[in-house]
Amino acid sequence: MEIFIDSADTTEMEKWLVMGVLDGVTTNPSIMLRDGVYNMEAGAKEIAALVNPRPVSVEVTTNDLDEMLTQARQLASWASNIVIKIPQITQDGIPCYGVIRQLESEGIKVNATLAMSLGQVILAAKAGATYISIFAGRISDEGGDAPLIIKNSVEWLEHWKYKSKIIVGSIRSVADVLQSAIAGAHIVTVPSQYLTKMVDHKNSRDGVRQFIVDAQKAIEMMKKAKA
Ligand code: E4P
Repeated sequence: MEIFIDSADTTEMEKWLVMGVLDGVTTNPSIMLRDGVYNMEAGAKEIAALVNPRPVSVEVTTNDLDEMLTQARQLASWASNIVIKIPQITQDGIPCYGVIRQLESEGIKVNATLAMSLGQVILAAKAGATYISIFAGRISDEGGDAPLIIKNSVEWLEHWKYKSKIIVGSIRSVADVLQSAIAGAHIVTVPSQYLTKMVDHKNSRDGVRQFIVDAQKAIEMMKKAKA
């Protein structure tokens, strides 16, 4: 399983990059705004250069399908590792699968985002999306069973040998990360604060403390025995 960071904060990215645990980045316009990236082009180029060759998802910001294509081609021209986020449907429910198909046919990788159901995953896979983002938290918010949708999606993709990889986003806890992992997600995109929580455990810290103290005691015993 790969781990992406769901962020536009390059300081956070760098931190996880040097630890060797980061396989890619996902952003959306809300994440960019939250992390103070107001100039999308400059921000996306900086992130893409930092994590290259790992993929960085950047989202289109229109409901017009032709404009989506224009924006996507522009975004993709900024760096070779930029992947374009296209929603399943517009805010009025118009399917965006034709856009996904066209971009993939031009060699532009698509992350079909805002997937909330197995049905949407099947359609995005058929349209040729490289990645499909299932929004676990937003599914759970409405009482849906996100781990079941993830499991069914991964099994369906693998049974029929589609290339699409499932990214689980909208992570709201470490439990969400682990449930997604157990459900078979190819990738989980995690906000930095939950990676920090995944690292820590009181017993790990206490264990290190105890071993250092006991090692010191052993050195003192050795010195005493020699004296
Ligand atoms: C990632 O690709 C998504 O854009 C992100 O995880 C959405 O998270 P949210 O539902 O907390 O806004």
